[in-house]
Amino acid sequence: MAKKKSTFVCQSCGNQSAKWLGKCPQCSAWNSFVEEIISDPNSKPVSAGVSRTAKKVKSLKDVEPLTQKRLVFTDVELNRVLGGGAIPGSLILFGGEPGIGKSTLMLQVALQNPQFKVLYVSGEESDEQIKTRADRLQPETADNIFILTETDTTIIKNASENLQPDILIIDSIQTLHSDKLESAPGTVSQIRECTYEILAFAKSMGLPTFIIGHINKEGSLAGPKVLEHMVDTVLQFEGDRNHFYRIVRSIKNRFGSTNELGIYEMLESGLKPVVDPSKILISAREEDLSGIAITANLEGVRPLMIETQALVSRAAYGTPQRSATGFDLRRLNMLLAVLEKKCGFKVGLEDVFLNITGGIKIEDPASDLAILAAIVSSREDLPISSKVCFAGEVGLSGEVRPVQKIGQRITEAKKLGFEKIYVSEYNDFSALKDFKGLGIYKAKKIEEVFRDLFS
Ligand code: TYD
Ligand code: MG
Repeated sequence: MAKKKSTFVCQSCGNQSAKWLGKCPQCSAWNSFVEEIISDPNSKPVSAGVSRTAKKVKSLKDVEPLTQKRLVFTDVELNRVLGGGAIPGSLILFGGEPGIGKSTLMLQVALQNPQFKVLYVSGEESDEQIKTRADRLQPETADNIFILTETDTTIIKNASENLQPDILIIDSIQTLHSDKLESAPGTVSQIRECTYEILAFAKSMGLPTFIIGHINKEGSLAGPKVLEHMVDTVLQFEGDRNHFYRIVRSIKNRFGSTNELGIYEMLESGLKPVVDPSKILISAREEDLSGIAITANLEGVRPLMIETQALVSRAAYGTPQRSATGFDLRRLNMLLAVLEKKCGFKVGLEDVFLNITGGIKIEDPASDLAILAAIVSSREDLPISSKVCFAGEVGLSGEVRPVQKIGQRITEAKKLGFEKIYVSEYNDFSALKDFKGLGIYKAKKIEEVFRDLFS
């Protein structure tokens, strides 16, 4: 057998070196050298996403659509983020911060679907630890789950070929190593090579594979990020460890729409899908409190009513503080500047704290209007009725801009018993049906909204 050879290659200019270098002598990039295999006579080329047997030219109309072969799970939230279930041979990267619940969810999927034979490969926990967790999740042990505590990709490949499971789970990619490379597990080159090897055998076996990957607080770990383009689907587990709610977001999906959202509640006995999230994300309150406004958001294709809370107070010392939990701080600063310039509220001298309830992160620009309403409500100490909600993006000149799928948001507001919704005048209302009992206030500028709300 010929000796496997590896070399270090600069990822920005392709320069090669026998040794690792901190700085590339050719393009001066720092930390750009990654170990790569240059010749391995044993490995056959594999083209990602295409089975090696499918070499004949076919008419496109004879190709069977993949959707008919999806593996459908009992967990509706997971099916939703996957676009209706897992496609055979697809690689699903499941990323998230340590301790958020990735292993819990994957083991739970295995336990709840006895119709599938599951191979659970763990490089992090022992058999006993996995067993303890399984007992906690679902005391009666299912006999469809096979555990392999292993980190060597060749052994994992052989085990998969022998067992022929319906689903493969790898926990986690950072612990695997390939004997083709000398670098330590968790390095960029190992992560990439191991994913490549899994991709090759999973595709040829038609085996849907979930790969767990840890992401650090900055979300920019040089691990899962480098393999996002190699996998078919990227799911991201979000949420605050101190809160009960967890969100699974699909950020890439070759077989479904992205931005799809699954919501779970972390209980003593595992993760429970949240069926009607809007009801949970709005706190039940007897009286109306100032500083609270509800936004009619759209996360993926699902409308979600989310409570936003603001606290505005005079800055005690020098520089005013700004803080946002679950919302982009730069966007908050922009909204405050619009409020000051266009409506004359002197928020520049005040502390502003913003919080999105339930530990949820919101990105939908339609939440701008509710956030501004919560800020003004707190500053003026004027409560907003809990029967009122908002859906509008706010532009730099204080205009209320239209948002996507206004009809769905209005329908959700009506369904949950809201009495009034503030939206942009510029939305396309042509497809709207009659909404008896729900007042729709159409505004052009934010001043109009505040005048109607607080006077
Ligand atoms: P885990 O799945 O180990 O996280 P990850 O694999 O993403 O690192 O989840 C760990 C947390 O979940 C831990 O703090 C305990 C909590 N947990 C529950 O609250 N309920 C449960 O049933 C289980 C199994 C874990
Ligand atoms: Mg884990």
